[in-house]
Amino acid sequence: MKKGLLISFEGTDGCGKSTQIRLLSEYLKKSNREVVISREPGGCKVGEKIRNILLNAENVEISPMCELFLYEAARAQHMAQVIEPALNEGKIVILDRFIDSTFAYQGYGRQLGEECVDIFNKYAINHRYPDITLMLTLKADDAFKRKGGNDTKDRMEMAGDDFFKRVDEGLKRASEKYADRIIKVNVEGTCEETHKKICTLIDNLLEK
Ligand code: TMP
Repeated sequence: MKKGLLISFEGTDGCGKSTQIRLLSEYLKKSNREVVISREPGGCKVGEKIRNILLNAENVEISPMCELFLYEAARAQHMAQVIEPALNEGKIVILDRFIDSTFAYQGYGRQLGEECVDIFNKYAINHRYPDITLMLTLKADDAFKRKGGNDTKDRMEMAGDDFFKRVDEGLKRASEKYADRIIKVNVEGTCEETHKKICTLIDNLLEK
């Protein structure tokens, strides 16, 4: 029997993922659900160390394939150490980014392709796909404004406009290819409106 519930959040930087994750977690906890919030890359000691390597702006020499393996290595450890144990205990795990970020950033942004990313994703997650993926969507300019404009950039943020155009294309493609689990949520309304939409989606899933 499938235990727990795995929810992932995706979307471009500045779309309000962290706020919506916090609000959803508070909502679920009110009905006595056990919730674990985590993030990728990261979520455990080794995962956070790999995150530092990936995001450190000094590591400019990292190749696309090395980058893919580092994201997948962090994920495999996170999965084994945090996500699977929590799901086995029947908890709800909410992730800030997961496999669809790899699909979009490495598959499309770094142009490694869908086939390659899909295979490594599948093994890193030990075939345990999210029950639902909420892809928050926003016009690119709005995302930039919400994020607070041009602050200090990490290694990924340094990638340039063409890269981020490909990432957006990758996110769109993922939402079509994995339409069975990915639901797009437009976040152009207020934070509260978005939160209500998300609660309805999750309540429907929990009632099934
Ligand atoms: P964050 O800024 O949302 O914490 O994510 C860290 C960065 O890593 C962000 O630029 C997206 C990127 N990323 C990938 O390129 N591939 C992945 O698989 C994941 C999870 C994140």
